[in-house]
Amino acid sequence: MIKFDQVTKSFGKTTALKQISLEIHKGEFVSLVGQSGAGKSTLISLIIGEEKPDSGRILIDDIDVAHIRRSDIPYLRRKIGVVFQDIKLLPNRTAFENVAFAMEASGETNSIIKKEVPKILELVNLEDRSDAFPNEMSGGEKQRIAIARALVHKPVLLLADEPTGNLDSINAWEIIQLLLKINKNGTTVILATHAKDLVNSVKKRVVTIEKGEIVLDQAKGKYVL
Ligand SMILES: Nc1ncnc2c1ncn2[C@@H]1O[C@H](COP(=O)(O)OP(=O)(O)OP(=O)(O)O)[C@@H](O)[C@H]1O
Ligand SMILES: [Mg+2]
Repeated sequence: MIKFDQVTKSFGKTTALKQISLEIHKGEFVSLVGQSGAGKSTLISLIIGEEKPDSGRILIDDIDVAHIRRSDIPYLRRKIGVVFQDIKLLPNRTAFENVAFAMEASGETNSIIKKEVPKILELVNLEDRSDAFPNEMSGGEKQRIAIARALVHKPVLLLADEPTGNLDSINAWEIIQLLLKINKNGTTVILATHAKDLVNSVKKRVVTIEKGEIVLDQAKGKYVL
């Protein structure tokens, strides 16, 4: 599903990723770990076409992201859901409306929105918080809404960049459980994090990046740095 072939990306004098080759198959759950500045977020922004590589190829299914036509970007974005550490929910909209907004933006009809949003809220266990505004929700709840929002297009790939960064360990663990559930339902998940304990307990593939290079790729790995 994802193939990086000798990908290098620099920002000025900083080489964020060096000759990265990586394959991720449909249905996998991959934790991408490494210290701050290792290149995790850069890798994610290359997958969504937000940054372009200096050299190398990036294929998402059969789309060459490095040379994607502008007209194909919406198609790529619909395949991929993204969740960031700094959750940007609309403050004046309820949980329901935050999720609905993402569907409105892509032109879904009201009747589909009314039908689908409760299902997605149920998936993230927030069906009873539908009318809550962001300032009435806990950090973990807000992150779950952000995940719900990322799922509205039924993406085949979910990218979560440090989704537990601002959460305590119990809330963080709930987010990981939710990502595992989403993966079980068939979505490929990439989780970028430095939360070592969490990744250890997941017992799924762990790819470790250090200074822009993959130093370890373990099937049921442990985070070691
Ligand atoms: N837009 C940018 N402009 C300049 N340098 C950048 C930019 N984005 C990333 N970098 C640099 O590239 C390197 C990799 O950054 P990246 O954000 O990918 O790391 P990370 O592994 O996500 O770190 P963190 O765990 O802190 O989020 C760092 O040295 C960073 O300073
Ligand atoms: Mg990052």
